[in-house]
Amino acid sequence: MSKTQAAAAKPKTRKTDMVLPIYLYGQKVLRKRAQDVAKVTPELAKLAEDMLETMYKSAGIGLAAPQVGHSIRLIVVDITGEEEEKKPYYMFNPVVSVAKGACSAEEGCLSVPGVWADVERPESITVEYLDRSGKPQALRNIDGLMARCIQHEIDHLNGVLFVDKISNTDRTLNEGKLKKLSKESKSVPA
Ligand code: CO
Repeated sequence: MSKTQAAAAKPKTRKTDMVLPIYLYGQKVLRKRAQDVAKVTPELAKLAEDMLETMYKSAGIGLAAPQVGHSIRLIVVDITGEEEEKKPYYMFNPVVSVAKGACSAEEGCLSVPGVWADVERPESITVEYLDRSGKPQALRNIDGLMARCIQHEIDHLNGVLFVDKISNTDRTLNEGKLKKLSKESKSVPA
């Protein structure tokens, strides 16, 4: 998930690992159901690190493996602001086990640059996952931006994009941008 439109205008600089190319709207990998991770290997832990760097470099707060071309169930999330200490989460095979309420807020996506629109989602969730060392973890009854971001990223693992969930009005407003992105991304090798 990307930050608000205003915050995205000033990407942060940070010493880097490896920055991966981000796949854009229109590319097939974004529409596939991603596979479960059988075991958190050192290679996958490294991929998670590289995804986090890629996300920080792009001023994002969440990134899913299909967005960097890997159709596996892995997401990284860090919703901390620029002045705060970083608090990254690496989640392998994340599953929302409890979802309550509903609320609407603006979202954007690093794979759908230039589009921001409101999405309605459950307000409070519990998410279970494996951490970077393969240990089972859970975040219980989280809400706000963290809950929203995790749900947005898990949608990516199911081939779902936030623009699938926006109002008809917002869809019509952004149709031109989406068509343009789709056309451009088709010329990029997947
Ligand atoms: Co996204």
